[in-house]
Amino acid sequence: MQDLDGIVAKALADFAASADPASLENAKARYLGKSGELNAFRPSSGTPEERKAAGAAFNAAKQKIEQALEARRGALADAKLNERLAAEALDVTLPGRGRGSGGLHPVIRTWQRIEAIWRSIGFDVADGPEIETDWYNFTALNNPENHPARSMQDTFYVDLKDEQGLPLLLRTHTSPMQVRYARMHAEKLRQKAEWAAIKVIAPGRTYRVDSDATHSPMFHQVEGLWIDEDISFADLKGTYTEFLRRFFEIDDLEVRFRPSFFPFTEPSAEIDMMFKSGTLKGRWLEISGSGQVHPTVVRNFGLDPEKYIGFAFGSGLERLTMLRYGIEDLRLFFDDDLRFLEQFS
Ligand code: DAH
Repeated sequence: MQDLDGIVAKALADFAASADPASLENAKARYLGKSGELNAFRPSSGTPEERKAAGAAFNAAKQKIEQALEARRGALADAKLNERLAAEALDVTLPGRGRGSGGLHPVIRTWQRIEAIWRSIGFDVADGPEIETDWYNFTALNNPENHPARSMQDTFYVDLKDEQGLPLLLRTHTSPMQVRYARMHAEKLRQKAEWAAIKVIAPGRTYRVDSDATHSPMFHQVEGLWIDEDISFADLKGTYTEFLRRFFEIDDLEVRFRPSFFPFTEPSAEIDMMFKSGTLKGRWLEISGSGQVHPTVVRNFGLDPEKYIGFAFGSGLERLTMLRYGIEDLRLFFDDDLRFLEQFS
């Protein structure tokens, strides 16, 4: 039969040989468990003195084994932690990957420029819904149902109906914002409240069933509207020419108003401009629709057309951007090609 020292030595060797916590705990059970080897040495017979001596030897052996067990548990836990630290180590000396720098899309640059310029001429900036009712997009703008002028704009319809049972649609132009804004501010204008004015631009996204080198199903327009008791075509000419000069950063350009037709203006005009230098020198370029707001539309603003008068215009943001940067194909704006887009950031 083994003696106590032999058991202690064997336990210590077994613990040392245990490479992971599970085998260590198994080894522990073999020595310290209820039916473990050590238990056989629990003193149970002999004189009190003999029992006392045997008990002391038993306790000393048990203590040695327990200490060795604790030490081995600690060592295994340390080893495991070190292993994890090594596996998850970060090499802080590696060079960084760098951050790509983003930039604004050229059309958004134009949008921001336009807002800044018109704000400085005293225009408010308004935003409105891209899903419109038939009334705001067409009827209120003197474009009655079944009127052939509606076919000037091929419309995307939405599978939802408005209160009149008419299908909602993706706005084909920013002109419905004239009506929305004017109806919100008409009362103040009638009361001649301080700061009351209907003098606003409304830039935003617009949609038509159209797609080629100069048309995209989604595009951007900016609507302008100035209504008061005495706003004339001269004000349109003055403010729009000032806008073009500031937008293109060129003082020397010519502007002309060419008769045209829009249901919501009478008279109506296309605004053309001509550069006096550069690659586009000497060519009339169509830049915007415009006109004196039609009396029917003024009435739909909630104002008396005998008393209130003014102008409106609607310009394409893509067109302005193409002329400013000399871009020839509209599709470049929507292709997401970084080689193109990076030139503007
Ligand atoms: N809404 C017109 C279009 O998209 C553009 C336009 C023309 C707007 C004349 C106006 C305007 O406000 O007076 O073709």
